[in-house]
Amino acid sequence: MSGQGLEGIVATSSEISSIIDGVLTYRGYNIDDLANHASFEEVIYLLWYGKLPTDSELEELGKELAKQADLPEEVSTLLKRLPKDSSPMEVLRTAVSAIALYDKESGDMSKEANIRKATRITAQIPTIVTTFERNRKGLEPITPDSTLSFAENFLYMLNGTKPDPVAVKAFDQALVLHADHELNASTFAARVTVATLSDIYSGVTSAIGALKGPLHGGANEQVMAMLEDIGTPEKTENYIDNALDNKVKIMGFGHRVYKDGDPRAKHLQAMSKNLAKIVGDSKWYDMSVQIDNMVVSKKGLKPNVDFYSASVYTYLGIPRDLFTPIFAISRASGWAAHILEQYSNNRLIRPRAEYIGNSHMKYVPIEER
Ligand code: COA
Repeated sequence: MSGQGLEGIVATSSEISSIIDGVLTYRGYNIDDLANHASFEEVIYLLWYGKLPTDSELEELGKELAKQADLPEEVSTLLKRLPKDSSPMEVLRTAVSAIALYDKESGDMSKEANIRKATRITAQIPTIVTTFERNRKGLEPITPDSTLSFAENFLYMLNGTKPDPVAVKAFDQALVLHADHELNASTFAARVTVATLSDIYSGVTSAIGALKGPLHGGANEQVMAMLEDIGTPEKTENYIDNALDNKVKIMGFGHRVYKDGDPRAKHLQAMSKNLAKIVGDSKWYDMSVQIDNMVVSKKGLKPNVDFYSASVYTYLGIPRDLFTPIFAISRASGWAAHILEQYSNNRLIRPRAEYIGNSHMKYVPIEER
């Protein structure tokens, strides 16, 4: 069949991010520079407005994000009522969709209203995730603190204590690295949805549904599940050998676009190494390196963004099923940028399918089948 998975198909043009010769850029800035120097708020500004912010522009965006982080009362109540054993990604998908019901501007399609909604969605996703996490643990949710940065606020709302600067730096860098990634599956889902001129909440809800799958954002949770399943460095070699012999996919390896390595992985690896030292437990990092070396040498596949993020988040004390929601916390900024871009030059996205089914079938009445 032709076009399976739309591999290699250029489905739109975009000025937001590019992957050319294995180099990832946001608005023309190399991800390595942004990971080393920019804050997540700067990256949000860059993605939405196409340029790096001045001091005052950055301050204004930071203030606006902090101001919009509170959830509508009704959504907080809804979150309390959801089953405690729900998957946090399903909760997130439901809650983002629910927020639209309480946003008076949800049907306003002006650019200004869409930017305000993008700000609210980006600001409120971390509050949804941390509120659900605390509810299910029987703890009171923490109200966002408008004096904190985006990364600080998330860790504060999660744990209820002012976070350690090293954790904040690592988390902020992880957010920068996950913010956008050209026409990945969830971003494409968002663009397809809003290209019908549906609203931004529908676009982000579609994107969350797409991100949830283990072949996309769900892979980081699967990586940690694998590390936990292996248990110790001594068992790693056997486990991976067996998996490869049985053609089991090793989560966190391979990529549709990068065939020579994902440029984000090295930053996450360095972060994992550093956090392992600080936490004083290098087990997850050591096992990850062991797996990395084996999969590279035996399969020629390199780690992607999800592989080392698993140990990074674990060292930050984040529960495994929040890894994909964290991906969403960051990627919401990219989804919003793409949605705004789609609206600015819209055409319905409606491809064709090559029909390979039966033809000339004669209808048989039900009693004769
Ligand atoms: N472990 C083991 N083998 C893998 C693999 C992995 N993680 N990823 C790809 N392969 C193998 C496939 O089995 C296939 O082998 P074959 O030709 O012998 O059948 C070959 O490499 C090509 O893989 P394919 O699945 O066709 O590539 P794709 O472009 O469709 O898929 C991914 C890309 C990302 C979906 C795929 O690499 C994958 O499933 N990785 C694991 C999930 C993951 O980490 N996702 C996050 C992406 S950021």
